[in-house]
Amino acid sequence: RTVYVNGEYLPETEAKVSIFDRGFLMADAVYEVTSVLGGKLLDFQGHTARLQRSLNELQMISPVTMDELLEIHHQLIEKNNLEEGGIYLQVTRGAGADRDFVWPDPEEVKGGIVLFTFAKKITESKSLDEGIKVISVEDLRWGRRDIKTTQLLYPSFAKMQAKKAGATDAWFVEDGFVTEGYANNVYIVKDGVIITRQLSNDILHGITRAAILKFAKEAQMKVEERPFTIEEAQAADEAFATSATGFSQPIVEIDGVTVGTGKPGPVSRRLREIYIAEMP
Ligand code: PDD
Repeated sequence: RTVYVNGEYLPETEAKVSIFDRGFLMADAVYEVTSVLGGKLLDFQGHTARLQRSLNELQMISPVTMDELLEIHHQLIEKNNLEEGGIYLQVTRGAGADRDFVWPDPEEVKGGIVLFTFAKKITESKSLDEGIKVISVEDLRWGRRDIKTTQLLYPSFAKMQAKKAGATDAWFVEDGFVTEGYANNVYIVKDGVIITRQLSNDILHGITRAAILKFAKEAQMKVEERPFTIEEAQAADEAFATSATGFSQPIVEIDGVTVGTGKPGPVSRRLREIYIAEMP
């Protein structure tokens, strides 16, 4: 693969970052994942808008402009002949002279930036045909989940707990209510109404979530933005999750309890079809 690191396109084996990079030492970094379908970027505007917001919230400055970023994405798609998959992008606060809890002056230390592509089948998978099993775990992440930082140890820990339990994904629960999935936003459907937690600092403001809710409303589906419990989800007709690399993914089991018929539900399938038809 050809990757992009701090101004250069390089083979992945030659790309290097400083051991003092704050992304590496302190997860002092933000990221985005944009999907690619048919060689085209999906919802790039949405992802750059959120990136800019994450950077602003942490008083971080991107070393490249958003226009340059789009050009880098296009170059990487072309250089890697990427048809289907995604692009990972990470901006860090850069490498200080040493390890320091105090942020360096952005005038003196420039931010770091890394991008790489990954090929992945998004349009077909076993999980789409059969649905996904999830377990619930306590949400022990920090309180600013609206900022897309690279602090992913807890989501990774939760994913491992799911794997050990014979499931695939983990849903986070805080004060008795579901916040979101380990790396996706989650929804239930009851009597034709799509229910998903409202936006706040408790969850990431999913770019796919925004598109899916817009399409749902345009298709005259009812949407309720409010928190729900695991018990309510287990008793729902259908459940699903959305993310840039998964679109909408059907969920068929929560903590060992079958949801609905135990098969992928019609609402998540329909939204997925609309998303694929409307997005590129
Ligand atoms: N994850 N919530 C969390 C905690 C996430 O990490 C993600 C995305 C989402 C969905 O956001 P979007 O629709 O904008 O992708 C929600 C990415 C894909 C990842 O970490 O790989």
